Formats: sequence, C-alpha cells, structure tokens
Amino acid sequence: MRKVSELYRGKAKTVFVTEDANKLILEFRDDTSAFDGEKIEQLSRKGEVNNKFNNFIMQTLENKGIKTQLESLIDDTQSVVKKLNMIPVECVIRNYAAGSLCKRLGVEEGLALSPPTFEFFLKNDALHDPMINESHCASFGWATPEQISQMKSLTFAVNEVLSPIFEAGGMLLVDFKLEFGTDENGDIILGDEFTPDGCRLWDKETKKKLDKDRFRQGLGSVVESYIEVAARIGLDIG
Ligand code: C5P
Repeated sequence: MRKVSELYRGKAKTVFVTEDANKLILEFRDDTSAFDGEKIEQLSRKGEVNNKFNNFIMQTLENKGIKTQLESLIDDTQSVVKKLNMIPVECVIRNYAAGSLCKRLGVEEGLALSPPTFEFFLKNDALHDPMINESHCASFGWATPEQISQMKSLTFAVNEVLSPIFEAGGMLLVDFKLEFGTDENGDIILGDEFTPDGCRLWDKETKKKLDKDRFRQGLGSVVESYIEVAARIGLDIG
C-alpha cells in the first residue's frame, strides 16, 4: 500500500490517503502532547510502541466480535486502516475516578465507579473538547440517536473485553477514550486508537500510574511504562 498524500496531521498521528480509496495509512509519531498541545515532546520509540500496542488491542477486540478500523501493520510505526467517516464525539468510560472527573465533581481519585460512568465529549481543540450530552449530539447533528446508542454500548463492550485482560496483568483499567466512525454501509466501527496515550492504567497493588499521566505529570519513564504494560498483557515489544 502506497501513501499518496497527507490527509490530516494530528498531535501524535498522521493520516495518509493511499492508492486505495477505501484505505488510509495511520502513522504513529514519537510526538507526545498534553493539555491541548501546550506540552509537546518527542519520546523515542513511542510511535512504534503505540502502533504495535494498538494493533494488538484492536485484534483482540476483533476476535471478540467488535468491528475495528484496523486492517494490518505495515511496519514499526504505520498501519493500514479502513477509511471511515469519523463522528466528532469522544466516548469516555470510567471504572475509577481520575482526571477531569475528579476536577469537575470534586471526588477522590481512585473511587470505584459501579456501574462505570460514561461521558461524551465534543472533539474540538479550540473549545478544549467540552463535555456534551446526547441531546447536543441530536440537536447539532453530530450523531443520530441510533449512533449514540451504538457507540455507548460498544464502549461498554470494549470495557468488558479489556478490563479483565489488564486485570490479569495486575493492572486496573481506570478509564479510556474511544472514537467511532461509519463505513460505506453506515455501520459504526471503532476507529482511532487504543493505546496508553488514551487510557489510564494503574498497577493493581501499588496504584503506580503506567499511562500517559506519567507524561502529563512529569513522572518520567513514559515509553518504558507503555512497554511494561504491553509485556504484562502478553505483547513483547522489546
Ligand atoms: O481528561 P479525562 O479525565 O476526561 O480523560 C479521560 C480518559 O480519556 C483518559 O484516559 C484520557 O487519557 C482519555 N482522553 C483522551 N483524549 C482526550 C481526552 C481524554 O485520550 N482528548
């Protein structure tokens, strides 16, 4: 598969158009950003680690019957994905309180949430990805009620598949963010990525942070932690 032109350059990934109108190439770069791009650094090997991590998780989800955008790995930092019409909404599920939930509601970090809390955010950097609800999605045409309900149930399904996998590796899947799109048949497909950049993972015993909060909070050993997470779920990145 050959790249034809750059379609979109995000904060950590670049999307390329290919010779096949239905396929794109996702390149995972070493760029790491936080706080709406205020903090940006290059972390050696992060692109490779996230590309391989994402491939492993998406394959795991496919095996459990959840349709994903991922087609195949091309090399260390690039994958082929199906072209989707992305829905501009981020789906966040939280098993434990952390991050913006603690700030917003004043709850203590680590509080177990049962049932898990589900939230929608609008993908809009200029507005700092504000929290939105189903009514906003319908009124502004960001997603239909049917798409909303499918994205929500797929996010819960992903949580059901992945929580036990991380648990078996001695980790808590604290929260994560997913993005969805529609394919040429209008079916909802899981897009974007699932990597430690877009989820929170804590060691079950020590509660050590193993995800992008290491970067946000300046804790160091970011990529080393991602490699450790991968190893703990059976993926040897080396
Ligand atoms: O910041 P907040 O606590 O709302 O984030 C919830 C989860 O969603 C975290 O795992 C975070 O890494 C992820 N997230 C993301 N991209 C965003 C916002 C949140 O991956 N733009």
